[in-house]
Amino acid sequence: MTGTRVVTSSSNAIGVFDSGVGGLSVLRHIRHALPGERLIYVADSGHVPYGDKPAAYIEQRSIALARFLIGQGADAIVIACNTATAAAAAALRSRFDIPIVAMEPAVKPAVAATKSGVVGVLATVGTLESARFAALLERYAGEVEIVTQGCPGLVEQVERGDLTGAESRALIERYTAPLLARGADTLILGCTHYPFLAPLIADVAGANITLVDTGEAVARQLQRRIQSELPARKRTVHPEPVEGQNDSAQFFTSGDAAQASRIMSVLWGAEIVAQPLPQPFL
Ligand code: DGL
Repeated sequence: MTGTRVVTSSSNAIGVFDSGVGGLSVLRHIRHALPGERLIYVADSGHVPYGDKPAAYIEQRSIALARFLIGQGADAIVIACNTATAAAAAALRSRFDIPIVAMEPAVKPAVAATKSGVVGVLATVGTLESARFAALLERYAGEVEIVTQGCPGLVEQVERGDLTGAESRALIERYTAPLLARGADTLILGCTHYPFLAPLIADVAGANITLVDTGEAVARQLQRRIQSELPARKRTVHPEPVEGQNDSAQFFTSGDAAQASRIMSVLWGAEIVAQPLPQPFL
């Protein structure tokens, strides 16, 4: 399966996508766990947010992005988005015969961490309403009370780069209040955009509240699957990988490239120049 080849390289790559810039919170763990790998990241910012869109729409977008990444040389894909995992992981796995690592809210570690017996979940409405999330609760919640909260608007704040402002704070206060009132001592950041708001969420929720997300676990899972399933792949080894735009990482966006470059650079902590996604994949 190939798409328009924009970048050529002899090495295989790991393709990572999200509805926007949130997946960078996963990519930073991947870069850390697999420093020698070529990475290709796509922010589907032209279609963000996914959280309030029908599953069929997200599935179609995810297939297009996976095709693009494979066309660029990706031999493994990370769905760095809880909402896209719920809507499209099964469809991608049935279409593409490569390792596809997906992510879902960290219910299992949160259930292990809670002392009050109440766990709050902050996520998109799409994730919370999915059959996949229901199955996750069925499997791991046990005796723990799980209280969920959809967070419309929060993804857009991160897309705008507002990680500390009054509007983001007001949304976080509104969304965490019911969970804290129920006695939650552990909050799951069930959307890859939210780790960028973790300092603000911690400030609002208080020091006694534990925040959990799955970025690091997903990077470890990717590492395991590459080692076991792709032992003979061609890798480019970068002795001193530098975070940000360099020859070991490329960034694409379906949205405004200048805006994406600006926000992604802030979130990544080094300059990123996002390239426009080619027309057939928009
Ligand atoms: N980062 C996506 C997630 O993990 C955000 C979804 C959205 O665009 O609403 O769910």
